[in-house]
Amino acid sequence: MSRPAAVLTGLGAYVPPRTVPNEELSRRMDTSDEWIVQRTGISQRHWADPGVATSDLAVEAGHRALKSAVSGGFGDIDMVVVATTTPDQQCPATAPDVAARLDLGTVAALDVAAGCTGFVYALATASAALVAGYAERALVVGAETFHPFLNPADRGTAVIFGDGAGAVTLRRGTSDEAGAVQTVDLGSDGTLKDLVGIPGNGSRPRSTRPMQPDDQYLYMHGKEIFAHAVNRMAQSSSAVLAKAGWDVDEVDHVVGHQANLRILHALARELGVDRERLVCHIDQVGNTSAASIPLALADAAAKGHFQLHDRLLLTAFGAGLAWGSAAITWPEITLA
Ligand code: UT7
Repeated sequence: MSRPAAVLTGLGAYVPPRTVPNEELSRRMDTSDEWIVQRTGISQRHWADPGVATSDLAVEAGHRALKSAVSGGFGDIDMVVVATTTPDQQCPATAPDVAARLDLGTVAALDVAAGCTGFVYALATASAALVAGYAERALVVGAETFHPFLNPADRGTAVIFGDGAGAVTLRRGTSDEAGAVQTVDLGSDGTLKDLVGIPGNGSRPRSTRPMQPDDQYLYMHGKEIFAHAVNRMAQSSSAVLAKAGWDVDEVDHVVGHQANLRILHALARELGVDRERLVCHIDQVGNTSAASIPLALADAAAKGHFQLHDRLLLTAFGAGLAWGSAAITWPEITLA
């Protein structure tokens, strides 16, 4: 039976022009192209030039998503949600600036901080607002400028993360339409909050001790995170498929958070999905955190991998710990 649902109408992606191949990193630190490719599946990432911030990438991706939506007869946006762990500044949020620079007027605009799961959380937030009638049309952006937060002395993180932004537009519609967000599953485990994070700028370090040099950098307990990522994305995927009433064999494409190719392969094994159904874009962009799912969607869409009404499982995991999945069908989309 048809129900109110958010429907995907536009898609856009942007990565800064500067590519950083593995060889460049291996000249700066004790690593190698061979190690990075074998252990992560990453060949290169994009890093923004000095002075370029997350809002700049978000505006580019947002602009492309809006253009893509307009080609389908899209109307005015009345809500902007930006998922990011690397906002332009601590305060104010990045979304109002993005909305203003996209000439969207005085719309509702908020940031969602859910680490690498940010895009799925933002999609859920906007979808809920559309279904509840608080908004008619939303722009959801996942955007990160991670490289300034990477510790050049930590090869475990410095080789993984990249910068970029991806965006989708949504409108209020019904669940039987192509492009409908069928359902979502969200979760978190704050008892494991210390496994990955960026301590600097928070109220706790500020109120207890002087800022330490490494507080500005991302730290990550990679091995532990790896295991949780596979387990939580697999559990959440199963949960969202059960809610959607989809058998795993009916899923055409699994779009997992692009953290590590080995994680995606392990996820496919856990779910019993063949690798051909995995959407993999990590080799070109690395781990772009909240931007990774929309960037992967845009890459696969540009390559013509998605057909109208295909069933897509989106699933993500990251700092928090937080995880989430969404079941969506694929609409008619013209990329800008
Ligand atoms: O995005 C959201 C959350 N993040 C993730 O989901 C990331 C999850 N974790 C991972 O992707 C992996 O754990 C990493 C890619 C971070 C690390 O891969 P790993 O296979 O777990 O390596 P490891 O940390 O167990 O390290 C194995 C070895 C170590 O050397 P020893 O002690 O065996 O001599 C490391 O020091 O590899 C070494 N190593 C490196 N060697 C060359 C670690 N990083 C590097 C490097 N280049 N960049």
